[in-house]
Amino acid sequence: MGDIPASEDLDGLKSKALAQIASAVSMDEVETLRVSLLGRKGEITSRLKTLSSFSPQERPAAGAALNAVKNVIEDALAQRASSMKKKEVTERLQQESFDITLPGRPVGDGAFHPIGSVMDELISIFQELGFAVVEGPEIETDEYNFQMLNFPDDHPARDMQDTFYVQNGARLLRTHTSPVQIHAMLKRQPPISVIAPGRVYRCDSDITHSPVFHQLEGFHIAKNVTFGHLKGILELFFHKLYGKHTKLRFRPSFFPFTEPSAEVDVSCQICSGKGCRVCKGSGWLEILGAGMIDPNVLNAVNYDSEKWTGFAFGLGIERIAMRKYGIDDIRLLYENDVKFLSQF
Ligand code: FA5
Repeated sequence: MGDIPASEDLDGLKSKALAQIASAVSMDEVETLRVSLLGRKGEITSRLKTLSSFSPQERPAAGAALNAVKNVIEDALAQRASSMKKKEVTERLQQESFDITLPGRPVGDGAFHPIGSVMDELISIFQELGFAVVEGPEIETDEYNFQMLNFPDDHPARDMQDTFYVQNGARLLRTHTSPVQIHAMLKRQPPISVIAPGRVYRCDSDITHSPVFHQLEGFHIAKNVTFGHLKGILELFFHKLYGKHTKLRFRPSFFPFTEPSAEVDVSCQICSGKGCRVCKGSGWLEILGAGMIDPNVLNAVNYDSEKWTGFAFGLGIERIAMRKYGIDDIRLLYENDVKFLSQF
Protein backbone atom coordinates (compact mmCIF):
# COMPACT_ATOMS: atom_id res chain seq x y z
CA MET A 1 0.00 0.00 0.00
CA GLY A 2 1.46 3.40 -0.96
CA ASP A 3 1.56 6.57 1.08
CA ILE A 4 -1.55 8.61 0.76
CA PRO A 5 -0.28 12.00 -0.37
CA ALA A 6 -1.03 14.31 2.51
CA SER A 7 -3.08 17.24 1.28
CA GLU A 8 -0.53 19.67 2.86
CA ASP A 9 2.24 17.87 0.95
CA LEU A 10 0.37 18.25 -2.37
CA ASP A 11 -0.53 21.86 -1.54
CA GLY A 12 3.15 22.52 -0.85
CA LEU A 13 4.17 20.97 -4.17
CA LYS A 14 1.51 22.99 -5.96
CA SER A 15 2.44 26.34 -4.43
CA LYS A 16 6.19 25.72 -4.93
CA ALA A 17 5.56 24.82 -8.61
CA LEU A 18 3.26 27.81 -9.21
CA ALA A 19 5.82 30.16 -7.64
CA GLN A 20 8.61 28.76 -9.83
CA ILE A 21 6.41 29.06 -12.92
CA ALA A 22 5.48 32.65 -12.05
CA SER A 23 9.13 33.62 -11.70
CA ALA A 24 10.28 32.01 -15.00
CA VAL A 25 11.63 34.77 -17.26
CA SER A 26 12.13 32.96 -20.55
CA MET A 27 10.61 30.26 -22.74
CA ASP A 28 13.63 28.07 -21.92
CA GLU A 29 12.96 28.35 -18.19
CA VAL A 30 9.27 27.49 -18.67
CA GLU A 31 10.28 24.43 -20.68
CA THR A 32 12.80 23.30 -18.03
CA LEU A 33 10.06 23.56 -15.38
CA ARG A 34 7.59 21.61 -17.55
CA VAL A 35 10.11 18.78 -17.91
CA SER A 36 10.94 18.74 -14.17
CA LEU A 37 7.26 18.61 -13.20
CA LEU A 38 5.41 16.84 -16.00
CA GLY A 39 8.17 15.14 -18.02
CA ARG A 40 8.67 11.35 -17.90
CA LYS A 41 10.73 11.59 -14.73
CA GLY A 42 8.99 14.74 -13.45
CA GLU A 43 7.70 15.17 -9.94
CA ILE A 44 4.00 14.90 -10.78
CA THR A 45 4.54 12.02 -13.19
CA SER A 46 6.50 10.08 -10.58
CA ARG A 47 3.72 10.55 -8.06
CA LEU A 48 1.11 9.43 -10.61
CA LYS A 49 3.14 6.25 -11.11
CA THR A 50 2.82 5.37 -7.40
CA LEU A 51 -1.00 5.33 -7.59
CA SER A 52 -0.97 1.63 -8.57
CA SER A 53 0.34 0.77 -5.13
CA PHE A 54 -2.67 2.37 -3.43
CA SER A 55 -5.55 0.26 -2.21
CA PRO A 56 -8.59 0.32 -4.52
CA GLN A 57 -10.50 2.34 -1.89
CA GLU A 58 -7.81 5.03 -1.57
CA ARG A 59 -6.82 5.20 -5.26
CA PRO A 60 -9.72 7.32 -6.65
CA ALA A 61 -9.33 10.13 -4.12
CA ALA A 62 -5.53 10.10 -4.36
CA GLY A 63 -5.70 10.08 -8.17
CA ALA A 64 -8.27 12.90 -8.31
CA ALA A 65 -6.16 15.07 -5.98
CA LEU A 66 -2.98 14.52 -8.00
CA ASN A 67 -4.74 15.12 -11.34
CA ALA A 68 -6.25 18.35 -10.04
CA VAL A 69 -2.75 19.61 -9.14
CA LYS A 70 -1.43 18.39 -12.51
CA ASN A 71 -4.16 20.36 -14.33
CA VAL A 72 -3.46 23.55 -12.38
CA ILE A 73 0.29 23.24 -13.14
CA GLU A 74 -0.39 22.54 -16.84
CA ASP A 75 -2.59 25.65 -17.10
CA ALA A 76 -0.02 27.79 -15.31
CA LEU A 77 2.78 26.54 -17.61
CA ALA A 78 0.67 27.25 -20.73
CA GLN A 79 -0.17 30.76 -19.57
CA ARG A 80 3.42 31.54 -18.66
CA ALA A 81 4.64 30.16 -21.99
CA SER A 82 2.18 32.34 -23.87
CA SER A 83 3.13 35.52 -21.97
CA MET A 84 6.86 34.71 -22.41
CA LYS A 85 6.30 34.28 -26.15
CA LYS A 86 4.51 37.62 -26.35
CA LYS A 87 7.31 39.26 -24.36
CA GLU A 88 9.98 37.77 -26.62
CA VAL A 89 8.16 38.85 -29.80
CA THR A 90 7.64 42.38 -28.42
CA GLU A 91 11.32 42.65 -27.47
CA ARG A 92 12.42 41.37 -30.87
CA LEU A 93 10.14 43.81 -32.68
CA GLN A 94 11.52 46.65 -30.57
CA GLN A 95 15.06 45.69 -31.47
CA GLU A 96 14.14 45.24 -35.12
CA SER A 97 12.23 48.51 -35.37
CA PHE A 98 13.18 50.38 -38.51
CA ASP A 99 13.60 53.98 -39.46
CA ILE A 100 10.69 54.89 -41.69
CA THR A 101 12.45 58.10 -42.74
CA LEU A 102 15.22 56.13 -44.55
CA PRO A 103 15.04 56.51 -48.36
CA GLY A 104 13.80 53.36 -50.19
CA ARG A 105 16.00 51.16 -52.35
CA PRO A 106 15.72 52.33 -55.97
CA VAL A 107 13.96 49.93 -58.37
CA GLY A 108 15.59 49.80 -61.83
CA ASP A 109 13.52 51.05 -64.78
CA GLY A 110 12.32 48.42 -67.24
CA ALA A 111 13.15 48.81 -70.93
CA PHE A 112 11.82 47.56 -74.25
CA HIS A 113 13.49 44.45 -75.67
CA PRO A 114 15.38 45.32 -78.90
CA ILE A 115 13.16 42.90 -80.87
CA GLY A 116 10.00 44.67 -79.63
CA SER A 117 11.44 48.14 -80.36
CA VAL A 118 12.52 47.17 -83.88
CA MET A 119 9.15 45.52 -84.54
CA ASP A 120 7.29 48.68 -83.43
CA GLU A 121 9.52 50.88 -85.58
CA LEU A 122 9.02 48.70 -88.68
CA ILE A 123 5.26 48.56 -88.17
CA SER A 124 4.99 52.34 -87.91
CA ILE A 125 7.09 52.89 -91.08
CA PHE A 126 4.87 50.49 -93.08
CA GLN A 127 1.72 52.02 -91.60
CA GLU A 128 2.93 55.42 -92.85
CA LEU A 129 3.31 53.80 -96.28
CA GLY A 130 -0.35 52.70 -96.17
CA PHE A 131 -0.07 49.03 -95.06
CA ALA A 132 -2.65 47.55 -92.62
CA VAL A 133 -1.46 45.23 -89.81
CA VAL A 134 -2.88 41.68 -89.49
CA GLU A 135 -1.90 38.66 -87.41
CA GLY A 136 -2.12 34.92 -88.02
CA PRO A 137 -1.79 31.69 -85.98
CA GLU A 138 1.64 30.34 -84.98
CA ILE A 139 0.40 26.72 -85.15
CA GLU A 140 -0.46 26.05 -88.77
CA THR A 141 -1.59 23.32 -91.11
CA ASP A 142 0.56 22.01 -93.95
CA GLU A 143 -2.09 23.45 -96.27
CA TYR A 144 -1.55 27.07 -95.23
CA ASN A 145 2.20 26.89 -94.51
CA PHE A 146 3.07 25.03 -97.72
CA GLN A 147 0.35 23.78 -100.10
CA MET A 148 -1.54 27.02 -100.75
CA LEU A 149 1.82 28.77 -101.11
CA ASN A 150 2.55 26.56 -104.08
CA PHE A 151 4.87 24.09 -102.30
CA PRO A 152 3.85 20.80 -103.93
CA ASP A 153 3.99 17.61 -101.80
CA ASP A 154 7.54 16.21 -101.63
CA HIS A 155 8.92 19.29 -103.38
CA PRO A 156 12.56 19.84 -102.34
CA ALA A 157 11.72 23.48 -101.48
CA ARG A 158 10.10 22.19 -98.26
CA ASP A 159 13.59 21.21 -97.05
CA MET A 160 14.67 24.87 -97.24
CA GLN A 161 12.70 25.44 -94.02
CA ASP A 162 13.38 22.77 -91.41
CA THR A 163 9.99 22.31 -89.82
CA PHE A 164 8.93 21.54 -86.23
CA TYR A 165 5.87 19.26 -86.41
CA VAL A 166 3.32 18.96 -83.56
CA GLN A 167 0.31 16.69 -82.87
CA ASN A 168 2.07 13.71 -84.53
CA GLY A 169 2.57 15.65 -87.74
CA ALA A 170 -1.04 16.86 -88.05
CA ARG A 171 0.03 20.45 -87.38
CA LEU A 172 3.30 22.40 -87.53
CA LEU A 173 4.86 25.54 -86.06
CA ARG A 174 4.77 28.02 -88.92
CA THR A 175 8.18 28.29 -90.57
CA HIS A 176 7.50 31.76 -91.98
CA THR A 177 4.85 34.49 -91.86
CA SER A 178 3.84 33.85 -95.50
CA PRO A 179 0.75 31.71 -94.53
CA VAL A 180 -0.76 34.96 -93.19
CA GLN A 181 -0.91 36.07 -96.85
CA ILE A 182 -3.37 33.21 -97.45
CA HIS A 183 -5.46 33.96 -94.32
CA ALA A 184 -5.66 37.66 -95.29
CA MET A 185 -6.43 37.03 -98.98
CA LEU A 186 -9.25 34.62 -98.07
CA LYS A 187 -10.81 37.32 -95.88
CA ARG A 188 -10.32 40.37 -98.14
CA GLN A 189 -10.69 41.34 -101.76
CA PRO A 190 -7.97 43.19 -103.71
CA PRO A 191 -6.61 45.82 -103.83
CA ILE A 192 -4.88 45.06 -100.50
CA SER A 193 -1.72 46.21 -98.73
CA VAL A 194 -1.00 44.25 -95.58
CA ILE A 195 1.86 43.56 -93.18
CA ALA A 196 1.91 40.58 -90.78
CA PRO A 197 4.53 40.63 -88.01
CA GLY A 198 5.06 37.56 -85.83
CA ARG A 199 7.06 34.70 -84.38
CA VAL A 200 8.19 31.81 -86.57
CA TYR A 201 10.05 28.54 -85.91
CA ARG A 202 12.75 26.53 -87.66
CA CYS A 203 15.07 23.74 -86.64
CA ASP A 204 18.12 25.97 -87.14
CA SER A 205 20.75 27.46 -84.78
CA ASP A 206 24.05 29.39 -85.13
CA ILE A 207 25.24 33.00 -84.69
CA THR A 208 22.80 34.34 -87.29
CA HIS A 209 20.05 31.68 -87.03
CA SER A 210 17.73 31.07 -84.08
CA PRO A 211 15.13 28.25 -83.76
CA VAL A 212 12.53 30.89 -82.76
CA PHE A 213 12.73 34.20 -84.56
CA HIS A 214 10.52 36.95 -85.94
CA GLN A 215 9.52 37.93 -89.42
CA LEU A 216 7.49 40.71 -90.89
CA GLU A 217 5.56 39.71 -93.97
CA GLY A 218 4.35 42.39 -96.35
CA PHE A 219 2.36 42.20 -99.54
CA HIS A 220 0.53 44.44 -101.91
CA ILE A 221 -1.95 43.30 -104.56
CA ALA A 222 -3.55 45.68 -107.04
CA LYS A 223 -3.74 46.25 -110.81
CA ASN A 224 -0.44 46.57 -112.72
CA VAL A 225 1.86 46.07 -109.71
CA THR A 226 5.45 45.44 -110.91
CA PHE A 227 8.84 44.42 -109.52
CA GLY A 228 9.72 48.13 -109.75
CA HIS A 229 7.09 48.90 -107.11
CA LEU A 230 8.60 46.23 -104.84
CA LYS A 231 12.08 47.72 -105.24
CA GLY A 232 10.74 51.22 -104.66
CA ILE A 233 8.89 50.29 -101.44
CA LEU A 234 11.88 48.37 -100.02
CA GLU A 235 14.30 51.21 -100.80
CA LEU A 236 11.96 53.75 -99.24
CA PHE A 237 11.59 51.53 -96.20
CA PHE A 238 15.35 50.93 -95.66
CA HIS A 239 16.19 54.59 -96.22
CA LYS A 240 13.64 55.53 -93.54
CA LEU A 241 15.03 52.85 -91.22
CA TYR A 242 18.80 53.24 -91.68
CA GLY A 243 19.25 56.48 -93.60
CA LYS A 244 19.73 57.36 -97.29
CA HIS A 245 23.32 56.02 -97.48
CA THR A 246 22.06 52.40 -97.03
CA LYS A 247 22.65 50.15 -100.03
CA LEU A 248 20.37 47.28 -101.10
CA ARG A 249 21.42 44.32 -103.22
CA PHE A 250 18.85 42.13 -105.00
CA ARG A 251 20.05 38.60 -105.73
CA PRO A 252 17.98 36.26 -107.91
CA SER A 253 16.52 33.52 -105.75
CA PHE A 254 13.73 30.98 -105.55
CA PHE A 255 10.55 30.80 -103.47
CA PRO A 256 7.67 28.58 -104.67
CA PHE A 257 5.15 31.37 -103.98
CA THR A 258 6.89 34.19 -105.90
CA GLU A 259 8.11 34.48 -109.48
CA PRO A 260 10.52 36.14 -110.06
CA SER A 261 12.05 35.91 -106.57
CA ALA A 262 14.93 37.72 -104.91
CA GLU A 263 16.92 37.68 -101.73
CA VAL A 264 17.66 41.18 -100.56
CA ASP A 265 20.87 42.04 -98.72
CA VAL A 266 21.56 45.30 -96.90
CA SER A 267 25.08 46.72 -96.53
CA CYS A 268 26.59 45.51 -93.21
CA GLN A 269 26.70 48.29 -90.63
CA ILE A 270 28.87 46.36 -88.18
CA CYS A 271 31.91 46.41 -90.53
CA SER A 272 30.70 49.20 -92.90
CA GLY A 273 30.87 46.71 -95.76
CA LYS A 274 34.50 45.64 -95.08
CA GLY A 275 33.54 42.11 -94.08
CA CYS A 276 33.15 40.67 -90.56
CA ARG A 277 32.05 37.52 -88.71
CA VAL A 278 28.34 38.54 -88.90
CA CYS A 279 28.26 39.17 -92.67
CA LYS A 280 30.63 36.21 -93.13
CA GLY A 281 33.20 38.49 -94.76
CA SER A 282 30.87 39.63 -97.58
CA GLY A 283 30.02 43.15 -96.37
CA TRP A 284 26.30 42.33 -96.83
CA LEU A 285 23.64 40.95 -94.50
CA GLU A 286 20.79 38.86 -95.89
CA ILE A 287 17.65 40.44 -94.46
CA LEU A 288 14.69 39.47 -96.57
CA GLY A 289 13.16 37.35 -99.27
CA ALA A 290 10.81 38.90 -101.80
CA GLY A 291 9.21 38.57 -105.21
CA MET A 292 6.12 38.88 -107.37
CA ILE A 293 3.27 36.71 -106.03
CA ASP A 294 2.99 33.56 -108.17
CA PRO A 295 -0.30 33.40 -110.13
CA ASN A 296 -0.86 29.90 -108.62
CA VAL A 297 -1.13 31.49 -105.15
CA LEU A 298 -3.63 34.09 -106.39
CA ASN A 299 -5.69 31.37 -108.08
CA ALA A 300 -5.67 29.24 -104.87
CA VAL A 301 -7.57 32.04 -103.07
CA ASN A 302 -9.85 32.70 -106.07
CA TYR A 303 -8.27 36.00 -107.10
CA ASP A 304 -8.29 36.58 -110.86
CA SER A 305 -4.56 36.40 -111.67
CA GLU A 306 -5.21 37.96 -115.12
CA LYS A 307 -6.56 41.06 -113.40
CA TRP A 308 -4.47 41.36 -110.23
CA THR A 309 -0.74 41.27 -109.62
CA GLY A 310 1.18 41.71 -106.41
CA PHE A 311 4.51 41.67 -104.65
CA ALA A 312 5.39 40.10 -101.29
CA PHE A 313 8.38 40.21 -98.97
CA GLY A 314 9.40 38.61 -95.67
CA LEU A 315 11.91 40.41 -93.41
CA GLY A 316 13.96 38.84 -90.59
CA ILE A 317 13.47 41.09 -87.55
CA GLU A 318 16.49 39.75 -85.59
CA ARG A 319 18.79 40.51 -88.55
CA ILE A 320 17.51 44.10 -88.60
CA ALA A 321 17.99 44.45 -84.83
CA MET A 322 21.53 42.99 -85.10
CA ARG A 323 22.44 45.43 -87.82
CA LYS A 324 20.83 48.38 -86.03
CA TYR A 325 22.51 47.76 -82.64
CA GLY A 326 25.75 46.14 -83.86
CA ILE A 327 24.95 42.77 -82.19
CA ASP A 328 27.25 40.06 -83.53
CA ASP A 329 25.49 36.95 -82.17
CA ILE A 330 21.71 36.38 -82.52
CA ARG A 331 21.67 34.21 -79.37
CA LEU A 332 22.38 37.28 -77.20
CA LEU A 333 18.84 38.44 -78.01
CA TYR A 334 17.38 35.38 -76.25
CA GLU A 335 19.61 34.91 -73.20
CA ASN A 336 17.73 37.46 -71.02
CA ASP A 337 21.01 38.81 -69.63
CA VAL A 338 20.00 42.06 -67.90
CA LYS A 339 23.49 43.57 -68.44
CA PHE A 340 23.11 43.06 -72.19
CA LEU A 341 19.46 44.16 -72.37
CA SER A 342 19.96 47.32 -70.27
CA GLN A 343 22.12 48.79 -73.08
CA PHE A 344 19.05 49.38 -75.24
C1 FA5 B 1 11.07 33.20 -96.13
O1 FA5 B 1 10.82 32.82 -95.00
C2 FA5 B 1 10.00 33.66 -97.04
N1 FA5 B 1 8.72 33.36 -96.49
C3 FA5 B 1 10.16 35.16 -97.29
C4 FA5 B 1 9.34 35.67 -98.43
C5 FA5 B 1 8.13 36.27 -98.17
C6 FA5 B 1 9.81 35.52 -99.76
C7 FA5 B 1 7.35 36.74 -99.21
C8 FA5 B 1 9.04 36.00 -100.80
C9 FA5 B 1 7.83 36.60 -100.53
P1 FA5 B 1 13.66 33.02 -95.88
O2 FA5 B 1 13.70 31.59 -95.48
O3 FA5 B 1 14.77 33.46 -96.75
O4 FA5 B 1 12.30 33.36 -96.63
O5 FA5 B 1 13.61 33.94 -94.58
C10 FA5 B 1 13.41 35.34 -94.65
C11 FA5 B 1 14.34 36.05 -93.70
O6 FA5 B 1 14.17 35.55 -92.38
C12 FA5 B 1 15.81 35.83 -94.00
O7 FA5 B 1 16.25 36.75 -94.97
C13 FA5 B 1 16.44 36.10 -92.65
O8 FA5 B 1 16.58 37.50 -92.44
C14 FA5 B 1 15.41 35.60 -91.69
N2 FA5 B 1 15.72 34.26 -91.16
C15 FA5 B 1 15.58 33.07 -91.79
N3 FA5 B 1 15.92 32.05 -90.97
C16 FA5 B 1 16.26 32.63 -89.79
C17 FA5 B 1 16.70 32.11 -88.53
N4 FA5 B 1 16.77 30.80 -88.28
N5 FA5 B 1 16.99 33.00 -87.53
C18 FA5 B 1 16.86 34.32 -87.75
N6 FA5 B 1 16.44 34.87 -88.91
C19 FA5 B 1 16.15 34.04 -89.93
